[in-house]
Amino acid sequence: MKINQSKLSNQIILPDIGLGTWNMADDNTTIKIIKEALELGYRLIDCSPSYQNQNSIGRAIAESSINRSQIYITSKLRNSERGRENVNLACDRILSELNLDYLDLYLIHWPASKKDYKNWEEINQETWLGMIDLYKCGKVKAIGVSNFMPHHLKSLMKYEVIPMVNQIEFHPGQMENDTLIFCRENEILVEAYSPLGNGAMLQNDELIQISNKYKKSVAQLCLRWAQQNGTIPIPRASNSKQLKENIDIFDFQISNDDMKIINEMNYFAGSGQHPDKVDF
Ligand SMILES: NC(=O)c1ccc[n+]([C@@H]2O[C@H](COP(=O)([O-])OP(=O)(O)OC[C@H]3O[C@@H](n4cnc5c(N)ncnc54)[C@H](OP(=O)(O)O)[C@@H]3O)[C@@H](O)[C@H]2O)c1
Repeated sequence: MKINQSKLSNQIILPDIGLGTWNMADDNTTIKIIKEALELGYRLIDCSPSYQNQNSIGRAIAESSINRSQIYITSKLRNSERGRENVNLACDRILSELNLDYLDLYLIHWPASKKDYKNWEEINQETWLGMIDLYKCGKVKAIGVSNFMPHHLKSLMKYEVIPMVNQIEFHPGQMENDTLIFCRENEILVEAYSPLGNGAMLQNDELIQISNKYKKSVAQLCLRWAQQNGTIPIPRASNSKQLKENIDIFDFQISNDDMKIINEMNYFAGSGQHPDKVDF
């Protein structure tokens, strides 16, 4: 299966499709799904200690026939571990859960929210300095953030290393144009999380009609749309059929007219979480 690739600002190359792991259990089913994904050609796996399944993901990687050097593992700093002095230890805990000695990409999971923290900017900056320390010591090959909006990103632009990736919720009806443009202008690659709106995109009539034109499923249309917008989608899959379908998106091109229609769709489903309003 041919998979396109993107280059980060530090020249690290990532595949243009990944596998999400949120809501996967810490069990043999997850080990099986991850191993199968690797066999099918997935190379980017999105993890987090908050998903409480990194032991199983680590076992799948260890048992897989694919060499570790060909796999790109992302994990994330929990909100309870913000602060320069915490970042290194938090990363060590993740590495121990995954049974790995480095991460390919490490992200700050959420910015400190304006709602809960008067000094949100200072907290984010201190945490980012910890991420830079970690990057410099080589324990992580690339660093970035997640759920950061332009105002969160702007306060990190003064540092010698700026985020290489911003992972945000991105699917039809939720395009986050301001964030997308800011990231493009600053060479920050955007990863699209919940690219299927956690499954909610799949029943949309307009998307069903467009996908029929290309003889592709709605899932494939959403993933290709995310990819043609310059993002890397990281869909979760719960079975072989979904795994196979979601990686088979590089043999068709959505026309400019259809891209415009999908780009301009109004919000109709999603997590509804705003980074400055969440309670965690
Ligand atoms: N950084 C963050 O704050 C953040 C937040 C949320 C998610 N994420 C990451 O993004 C990943 C993906 O997002 P998500 O898990 O919210 O959901 P998603 O990828 O938008 O949707 C996944 C669900 O859609 C269904 N599905 C997948 N492929 C399908 C196909 N080809 N045909 C039909 N149905 C299909 C499956 O539902 P069924 O299981 O019902 O079959 C699957 O569980 C997460 O797993 C996680 O790694 C990050």
